[in-house]
Amino acid sequence: MEERLSEILSPYEGKRDALIPILQKVQEELGYLPAEAMQEIARTTGLPQSRVYAVATFYAQFYFTRRGRHQTKICTGTACHVKGAARIMDTFERELGIACGETSEDYEHSLETVACVGSCALAPVVVVDEEVYGQVDSSKMSKIFDDFKETEKED
Ligand code: FES
Repeated sequence: MEERLSEILSPYEGKRDALIPILQKVQEELGYLPAEAMQEIARTTGLPQSRVYAVATFYAQFYFTRRGRHQTKICTGTACHVKGAARIMDTFERELGIACGETSEDYEHSLETVACVGSCALAPVVVVDEEVYGQVDSSKMSKIFDDFKETEKED
């Protein structure tokens, strides 16, 4: 981890203004921001660790625990709520064997809610990794679960 971090952080030595891009880069590389990385970011930039944490915790895009390879977000904005987001969440929880907010033990899946993703006309909406699925019904959910199984097989 130490070697990897110094590789990622070496271009940012003393760059206090680049804190957000640094946090994004580290998360992109490691999948989350472990405590060790937060310490190293503070050391590299010369910022106090409290400042690094204050900025990172302010933005919902940053995570401090390891997450699943597939990240599923069920939209619970008003339009999606009205169109059955709770029922969709139940199905995902059952199928993935984890509750909302959890990551599976094998780190394959994380499941969470998201506020409106701006595609209300397509409600109900589910976002899997970077892909947005609209008008999600049971057949679309089956397709998503089949795709998950396919990627597991490929490993
Ligand atoms: S409420 Fe779900 S996309 Fe807007």
